[in-house]
Amino acid sequence: MSFDLELWQKQLAGQKPRAIVKAAFEHFANIAIAFSGAEDVVLIDIASKLCAKVPVFTLDTGRLHPETYRFLERVRERYPIELDVLYPDAEEIRDLVRRKGLFSFYRDGHQECCQIRKVNPLRRKLATLDAWITGQRRDQNPQTRQNLMEVELDQTFEGRSGKLVKFNPLANWTSAQVWDYIETFQVPFNELHRLGFRSIGCEPCTRPILPHQHEREGRWWWEDSAKKECGIHRKSAQ
Ligand code: ADX
Ligand code: SF4
Repeated sequence: MSFDLELWQKQLAGQKPRAIVKAAFEHFANIAIAFSGAEDVVLIDIASKLCAKVPVFTLDTGRLHPETYRFLERVRERYPIELDVLYPDAEEIRDLVRRKGLFSFYRDGHQECCQIRKVNPLRRKLATLDAWITGQRRDQNPQTRQNLMEVELDQTFEGRSGKLVKFNPLANWTSAQVWDYIETFQVPFNELHRLGFRSIGCEPCTRPILPHQHEREGRWWWEDSAKKECGIHRKSAQ
């Protein structure tokens, strides 16, 4: 696979999400969108206007809100997607829960649980792909995502042939732009957004925020903001 990263970074810098998604799907046949069940549904809407069948995967950690499960199903029914729902390894979860219970993240930090419920299943999936597309934005976390590029080589995971390309088409969009898009194109959204939730992850680790708070304050609120990455994007944004 020939891929000149510097050239792609130059060409895609500041481009609109649609142009980035289009370039990604034109170049890579073996690519998929990572959908978290939140506002990143915008990527699915964009891709569905460009491709007949859109490959999408989501990590079902087993700890999502009921609203998120219902939303995933609404999106699956609305768009021509092939939704691959990824699950953690049952033995790994069993061992963690046996040793530490169901809420160890409040005591020990979220890394161990995220590793088992998100990072490991994601690693297995990405090992079958050449590239993936995420909904990360720079404005989601000023401490860890401010240098996020529209396209990068994944520094954490390996793809099918070793190298793995990662596209972040919403990198330079603000939350307000995402919501303008959702309203303009009548894109379905997670009901939790009506209840004050901004950034949505697992139920025990996500809470609604007040209007003056940054969206990341609703995630892992008992930890430092610099640690608010679950490991699936850890090195890419540094
Ligand atoms: S996280 O690292 O803190 O959990 P965040 O919620 O900001 O990530 O989401 C950023 C992007 O990571 C999403 O737009 C999506 O592409 C990917 N992502 C996060 N959580 C999941 C998930 N459960 N399943 C699939 N992709 C996910
Ligand atoms: Fe576990 Fe919370 Fe991470 Fe979900 S976000 S995998 S519940 S620590």
